[in-house]
Amino acid sequence: MLAQTLLLAAFAALGSASPIHVARADSPYVYTNSFGLNFTQMNASLPNVTIFATGGTIAGSGSSNTATTGYSIGSVGVLSLVDAVPEVLNISNIAGVQISNVGSEDVTSEILLNLSKYINKVVCGDSTMAGAVVTHGTDTLEESAFFLDATVNCGKPVVIVGAMRPSTAISADGPYNLLEAVTVAASNKSTNRGALVVLNDRIASAYYVTKNNANTLETFKPIEEGFLGTLVSDVPYYYYPPVTPTGKTAIDVSNITSIPRVDILYAYEDMSNDTLYNAIDSGAKGIVIAGAGAGGTSTSFNYAIEDVLNRLKVPVVQSTRANSGEVPLSDIGSTTASHIASGFLDPQKSRILLGLLLAQGKNLTEISAVFHGSTDD
Ligand SMILES: *[C@@H]1O[C@H](CO)[C@@H](O)[C@H](O)[C@H]1NC(C)=O
Ligand SMILES: *[C@@H]1O[C@H](CO)[C@@H](O)[C@H](O)[C@H]1NC(C)=O
Ligand SMILES: *[C@@H]1O[C@H](CO)[C@@H](O)[C@H](O)[C@H]1NC(C)=O
Ligand SMILES: *[C@@H]1O[C@H](CO)[C@@H](O)[C@H](O)[C@H]1NC(C)=O
Ligand SMILES: *[C@@H]1O[C@H](CO)[C@@H](O)[C@H](O)[C@H]1NC(C)=O
Ligand SMILES: *[C@@H]1O[C@H](CO)[C@@H](O)[C@H](O)[C@H]1NC(C)=O
Ligand SMILES: *[C@@H]1O[C@H](CO)[C@@H](O)[C@H](O)[C@H]1NC(C)=O
Ligand SMILES: *[C@@H]1O[C@H](CO)[C@@H](O)[C@H](O)[C@H]1NC(C)=O
Ligand SMILES: *[C@@H]1O[C@H](CO)[C@@H](O)[C@H](O)[C@H]1NC(C)=O
Repeated sequence: MLAQTLLLAAFAALGSASPIHVARADSPYVYTNSFGLNFTQMNASLPNVTIFATGGTIAGSGSSNTATTGYSIGSVGVLSLVDAVPEVLNISNIAGVQISNVGSEDVTSEILLNLSKYINKVVCGDSTMAGAVVTHGTDTLEESAFFLDATVNCGKPVVIVGAMRPSTAISADGPYNLLEAVTVAASNKSTNRGALVVLNDRIASAYYVTKNNANTLETFKPIEEGFLGTLVSDVPYYYYPPVTPTGKTAIDVSNITSIPRVDILYAYEDMSNDTLYNAIDSGAKGIVIAGAGAGGTSTSFNYAIEDVLNRLKVPVVQSTRANSGEVPLSDIGSTTASHIASGFLDPQKSRILLGLLLAQGKNLTEISAVFHGSTDD
């Protein structure tokens, strides 16, 4: 408790160094735009950024300043984020939307659909808005980031950010990550690069990035594809001009109201083929296999995949449980069924894409063609 008080006092001291005055009378807001977004300051010469908070570690409050596990999530809202990092107000005017307040494991496709539609409306649809920042717990951050990369396609930056340490830990990473995320979202250098994941001074494409370590700060990496850029002293530097990932499919969610259930099944020795049938019996409308190596499963499971594709017409995408690499169609193909290879998409990204394609009403042939776009054959 004492540690928290001291930390807040430290933040307050930082805040008083700012030349920007934030109204703090009956309402903390000084300006409301035509979409009903409330700003804590309005300096018309600064870019405007909307922060969408979903919950998670960046908002979490730990019980001691050395705890890095076991903290409660999502206990602080958007306004507190701005209060905690007043430096963001030197970079942009901030509006906040609390879209949910859950840990990342509880982010649902319904929350993601709402979030994507909200961003498309109030950020893409507003010429005065530079970009969006989404705060998110890190465990499933890459899934939500991939969803937003696929479904927000107006060229404005959507930056997904989280923190590995709770906000009360010594050297908490949340405040600086948030500052960097706002900086990237406010920068016109960030346009036409898809959704971006910013943590630990690195800028990564949401299409490729994945969490590699369960605990450390150095965890979000696109293993083979590399980072798009970095931040040095909070100045973004991109290594390359804007580029679109090979095989990326843009999806318009404006008419989508729900995402069908897609299950992921993990391959292993002795895997029984009934897990596949059980998942479909339980309501899965699509399946992703985290296959061994380049999409492999046991002979009996492979027959079951073909049975499901041919007889039940349920799409089964074969991805890999390996940390990186490709599942090419040639490695899983057969003459008795049209298998679907995930290419360079890992199981969790394949699940998001398959759900979106099913929501669009795509058939097996069309789904195959989209996934085929991210393979080399
Ligand atoms: C508004 O932003 C500009 C550009 O950063 C800055 O020079 C100016 O001091 C700001 N105005 C106020 C009142 O803070
Ligand atoms: C902006 O503030 C008003 C008045 O407090 C509130 O009704 C509205 O929900 C706020 N907008 C958002 C997006 O939070
Ligand atoms: C920020 O929003 C205000 C109010 O809508 C607008 O006047 C200003 O031009 C915007 N800033 C930029 C850099 O577009
Ligand atoms: C905002 O920028 C001004 C001018 O560069 C600087 O003096 C001030 O410390 C900054 N405030 C914060 C909170 O970073
Ligand atoms: C999604 O948005 C709708 C309409 O604003 C709302 O009724 C619903 O509760 C939201 N769902 C979630 C999961 O946030
Ligand atoms: C980005 O903003 C800077 C400073 O406002 C401006 O000089 C530059 O032309 C802009 N670049 C693009 C690509 O819009
Ligand atoms: C959404 O539905 C409307 C009305 O039926 C239609 O005009 C529009 O083309 C649809 N948009 C997409 C992306 O399917
Ligand atoms: C699934 O496995 C069972 C038990 O090993 C086997 O009898 C059955 O033939 C398999 N199904 C297919 C489609 O291969
Ligand atoms: C799938 O959809 C495409 C495009 O609408 C259509 O040409 C094709 O016949 C369909 N395939 C099947 C198997 O229904």
